[in-house]
Amino acid sequence: MKLTFSVIKADIGGYVGHSDTHPEVVNTVRSVVEEEVKKGNLIDMDILTCGDDIAIVMTHTHGVDSEIVHGIAWRAFEKGTEVAKKLKLYGAGQDLLTDAFSGNIKGLGPGVAEMEFEERPSEPVIVFFADKTSPSAWNLPLYEMFADPMNTAGLVIDPKMHDGYTFEVLDVYTGKAVKLSTPAELYDLLALIGSVGKYVVKNVYRNYDGEIAATASTQRLSLMAGQYVGKDDPVMIVRAQSGFPAVGEILEPFARPWIVEGWMRGSHNGPLMPVSFEDARPSRFDGPPRVIAAGYQVAEGKLVGPTDLFKDPAFDKARQSAQDMADILRRQGIFEPHRLPAEEMEYTTLPKILKKLEGRFYDLEEQRLDKDQVLEKEDMD
Ligand code: 13P
Ligand code: 13P
Ligand code: MG
Ligand code: MG
Repeated sequence: MKLTFSVIKADIGGYVGHSDTHPEVVNTVRSVVEEEVKKGNLIDMDILTCGDDIAIVMTHTHGVDSEIVHGIAWRAFEKGTEVAKKLKLYGAGQDLLTDAFSGNIKGLGPGVAEMEFEERPSEPVIVFFADKTSPSAWNLPLYEMFADPMNTAGLVIDPKMHDGYTFEVLDVYTGKAVKLSTPAELYDLLALIGSVGKYVVKNVYRNYDGEIAATASTQRLSLMAGQYVGKDDPVMIVRAQSGFPAVGEILEPFARPWIVEGWMRGSHNGPLMPVSFEDARPSRFDGPPRVIAAGYQVAEGKLVGPTDLFKDPAFDKARQSAQDMADILRRQGIFEPHRLPAEEMEYTTLPKILKKLEGRFYDLEEQRLDKDQVLEKEDMD
């Protein structure tokens, strides 16, 4: 049986501000999806939250991009939005960019990560879910999980992993994608995915047999809406063990925090802090950006779990480093490189401020020349 594992997420209202979700909203979303399990449209479901975002985890046999499954998520988020509006939560319905669902939820605001596979004798799957950042936050850890033998010992010692992995990379501005096979094209891959504002990893496949290993949500909400409407707080699904990286190899990149785009007003660089489910409530300067990891064993499509994988004292040091990095960056205040570079600010409210000053700019060089001409004329007189 081919199983589809879908995660569809949205921010439909923050409680308070952008820091958390409200239980009434989460329960409303959950009950809509639970109904669909009872009706037999889904095999199983679960709800995860991270900051002000809600993710619906669903297993089913409808394949990726299914109108049935996307429709379920859309209706659940619509119902949840009604509650969020009643409670006047912040940015209620923030990620639902349209009133009309037209068969596929992509491009309508919510983030989507889905993969289809034949369930293995044991199928461990990890769902990563981050708030106050963007899909390119996964570029660095995906590289380390699937292409860096210093992180993933299995690349060297597991015959099924030894041929490496192929990364599908999307240019978020043009919508074009390219597949790069590692280790052969590792440096080409890095040449692209180091540009986190432009390139994001969509899928990772195992070279040994083409099996899907990982998939991420890659929408850029601001590019779709044409303006800042919140960051595209991303989700990612990663399969683990027996021919894929071990759970510990998949989590290891998060033990050393790195800097991602997002944080306050989606306009700052900040460290990605791995946290337990209960600590996924970013409040300091609306951050720092958070990531949770939910581990499931999939059994005949049923979701056994989740376990809260970052709820481990071994990640305390990463949390402390992230705090230290946050302090260093906060020292910069509104100055780059804490605040994002100008091109990334185009999708925020900053252009409105800059527009006001447009007419007041003059050519400094020309003004100096004018003055010189006056002086020369005075000399001649
Ligand atoms: P507003 O208070 O105008 O929404 O801006 C701040 C913010 O939270 C940006 O998302
Ligand atoms: P979200 O993208 O999580 O809604 O956060 C928006 C924001 O502006 C935080 O300051
Ligand atoms: Mg929000
Ligand atoms: Mg969010």
